[in-house]
Parts: sequence; structure tokens; C-alpha cells
Amino acid sequence: MDNLCVLIMAAGKGTRMKSAIPKVLQPVLDRPIIDYVIRNAQSAGVSPDRIAVLVGSGGEEVEAHITDNFPHVQILWQHEQLGTGHAVKSARDFWKDYDSLVVLNGDLPLMKTDSLRKLIASAGENDCTVITFEAENPGAYGRIIRGENSVSIIEYKDASPEQREIHEVNAGCYAFKVQSLLTIIDSITNDNAQHEYYITDALALMNEAGMTTGAFIMPESEMQGVNTQAELARVSREMRREILDRWMNEGVRVADPETVYVGADVSIAPDTVIMPNVQIWGKSRIGRGSIIGSGSILTNAEIGGNVHVIAYAVIENSTLHDNAKAGPFCYIRDNTVLEAGAFAGKFVELKNSRIGEGSKVPHLSYMGDATLGHNVNIGAGSITCNYDGVHKNKTVIGDNCFIGSSTMFVAPAEVGDNATTAAGSVITQRVPENSLGVGRARQKNIEGWSLRNHHHNTTTEGEK
Ligand code: UD1
Ligand code: CA
Repeated sequence: MDNLCVLIMAAGKGTRMKSAIPKVLQPVLDRPIIDYVIRNAQSAGVSPDRIAVLVGSGGEEVEAHITDNFPHVQILWQHEQLGTGHAVKSARDFWKDYDSLVVLNGDLPLMKTDSLRKLIASAGENDCTVITFEAENPGAYGRIIRGENSVSIIEYKDASPEQREIHEVNAGCYAFKVQSLLTIIDSITNDNAQHEYYITDALALMNEAGMTTGAFIMPESEMQGVNTQAELARVSREMRREILDRWMNEGVRVADPETVYVGADVSIAPDTVIMPNVQIWGKSRIGRGSIIGSGSILTNAEIGGNVHVIAYAVIENSTLHDNAKAGPFCYIRDNTVLEAGAFAGKFVELKNSRIGEGSKVPHLSYMGDATLGHNVNIGAGSITCNYDGVHKNKTVIGDNCFIGSSTMFVAPAEVGDNATTAAGSVITQRVPENSLGVGRARQKNIEGWSLRNHHHNTTTEGEK
């Protein structure tokens, strides 16, 4: 562990995904496969500057993603993908001065940190240790050949019919003593069915040179690689279950785990209830005793304690403080803040707005670039006209205001504390404190108009 580095192989094409997106950038829940692998290495105690990702096919995209998200992780290029043996060899300058090298296939998002720790620990024991698993359907995996005191690997395409019967297979995780690997790595050839350089040949070469090789078995569930869309879906489902189990173990109530999705970076406090068909993504955080109602989708949402998200709320990059309430059917986005006890109700959209303590926007409203003081009531159908076609303008409403239904705030707009607006007003000037703002045409009645226009009630004819 003292002097160890990790090489993650991610240069392959991932042909069987049949996708333009590089395999290691395919998402498991809301994060690319490679993120789980890198984080696993970090969780096992390997510092980022000792982790390198080998890129090639689709490498620019992979490199850009890693540089943005893991700035200290090194990127190495394998310009031609001539096999995993060639991959390790082309990274030699990265690993040659360490004592130990751990090599990981880039497509193992479910691998547990404990397993990686065990592999790291084995680096001192053998010249090479590999992780294996008992495959229910061993398919095209490399087969494990166990000798008296040694292990070697035969690739499926090179295996005899008897060897293909073996169910113990290579997971694609290796720990090497660097000095031993340096001795044999140039002896790996591409003299095989696929004309590729196989890292798996290192074991036989080490055995011939009198070095020690070993293997330990881990559960198949953890060692599933991703080669096809079906495997990606299977791995995502497994990840989803693991994440939900973790939160349930922490005291979160998940009403129907079969239908709930929670991303790996989310955190949820105990006694919060997640109702069926909820999705929670990104860096969302949810406090204690809150309820997230059915059909809600939260992305980077900061939710306090005792918050009630009633069904079908979409909340993005926004904050709901303690005791706030939202939904059903609302869209809260772009750095909106609901302060303590505030409420956004039915068919309400809030964008980049601050809704003060105890203030309510109960029905059919749009508040964009607005700041509301505390205890404001927004009447149904009120909106901010925040966009003049060029600029986004602000609306500021003071404390304790009563906004009549269908008020239009032509922004920039300002309403002082304790003011009222009359229903249907178009507010184009400042409404001072303690005043009533009325901005609408007066009603006029034209008597007898219906009679003259034959628009009076005709239901006596029995038709309508
Ligand atoms: C490999 C193993 C096989 C094992 C299986 C587990 C070899 C020869 N075989 O097979 O024994 O059972 O993984 O999943 O290693 N890569 C590069 N550069 C290359 C080729 C591959 O970086 O030139 C990377 C890929 O991006 C991938 C990993 O190495 O992350 C494994 O490559 P892949 O083609 O998936 O190997 P398999 O044929 O599945
Ligand atoms: Ca593979």
C-alpha cells in the first residue's frame, strides 16, 4: 500500500454497446461507469495522483470528463488498442517506479471497496494476484486454470472445449509486484486467436519464471462487467438496490423500493419517507422527517427537515427550508429558495426566486426572478412578467403583502410591505407600503344587451 498505484484500463472501444458514447461514460443511474471505478480506488485509500486512467477510443471525451471531475487523476493515452497486455505496457512510465501496481478493467462499477482493499493487500503476497468469480453463465470471460500453487488464465477464444466448461472466470482486476511484471511484460505476445496482447498471459509467464500467482473469489454480483446495454441495465438495477438498501439501513423509509431511484451522491436523513415512483439525483440532500411524494423528481435539491413535497413536484438546483411545502404539480428551479414554512402549490413554477418565510404561492402562478418577503400571499394566477424580450427583470414584494388573483407584475416591479394589489391588476409602477395597487379597467354593464342579441337562455327548448 505504501508505494502502490492503480491503472484503470478504459481505452477499449466497447463495440458491443453499439453506442457513440464511450463505454466508460455510459451512465449507471446518473453517473458514468468510470466515476464509480475511480471513486472506489479513492475510497480504498489510493490518492488521486496515484490513479491513472488509460484512454484511447473516444479518449477526448473520457479525458474531458475526468479532467472536470477528478482533476488530480492522471490521463494516459493508448493510441492503438492492441489488447490489455499492450495497454498495461503502454502505461509503463506511469507505474514502473512504484513497488506495486493494481490494474482494473474500467467497466466494473459494482466492485466493493473492501474487495479492492483485499486486492491491494495481496500485492505484497504474490507476484500477481487476480480476482475471480464463479459465473453462472461464463460466456466469453477468461477461464481460471488453477494449478497446485499457481493460477493462470486462458481466454475463451483460445480455450479448449474442456477449459470452456470451467465456471471460475477472470474479473479483470490484478495486483502485481512491479519488479516481477517488468521482468516478463515484454514477453507477452499476440500469438493467439484474437491477435491481441493479453495481460492475462502475464500469469503463465510468471509461473514459468518461478514466480508466485494467486487468486481469490468474489461474488459475481460485484464483479459484473458492462459489455452490452442489457448488462448496463442489470448493473444499474443492482446499483439502485444497493443505494436504497444503504439508506433504508440508515432509517429512511422507502415505500416501494422497486420504483424509486436515488443517485449515488444523494444523502437522506432518517425518518424521511420516499413514496413510490420518486427519483432523486445529483447532490440532493434531504433532512429528517420529510416526505417526498409520488412522482417527484429532485435534482440537486436541498431539502430541510419536515418538508412535505406533495406528489409530482420537479425540483432542480433549489432549496426548501424546514417545514416548507411544495406540490402537487409544481416546478421549482434555478436557485429558488423556499424559506421555512413557505408553500408552492398546484401548477406553480418558481424560477430563481426567493419565497420568504411562511409565504404562499398556492395556485397557477409563475414567479421568475422574484423576491417575496415573509407572510406574502400570492393570489391564484398571478405572474411575474420578468422577461421583456431582452432582459430578465426583478420583482420585489415586501413582507405581509396580499396579492390579488391574476396580478401581473411587469418587471422591474416593486411592492412595499403590507401592500395589496387588486385582482386582475397589471402592476407597472411601484406600490408603496400599506397601499392598494389597482391597475385594471373599470367594469361597465350594458343593460338588456342579451335580450337584444338573442343570447338569452334557450334551455326551455329542451336542446341545450
Ligand atoms: C478481459 C479479460 C478476460 C476477463 C474480462 C473480464 C483480457 C485479455 N481478457 O476480457 O480474461 O474475463 O476482461 O471482464 O484482458 N482495454 C484497453 N485497451 C485495449 C483493450 C482493452 O484499455 O487495448 C480496456 C477496455 O476498455 C476494458 C478493459 O480493458 O475496460 C477490458 O477490455 P475488454 O475488451 O472488455 O476485455 P474482455 O475481452 O472483456
Ligand atoms: Ca469486458
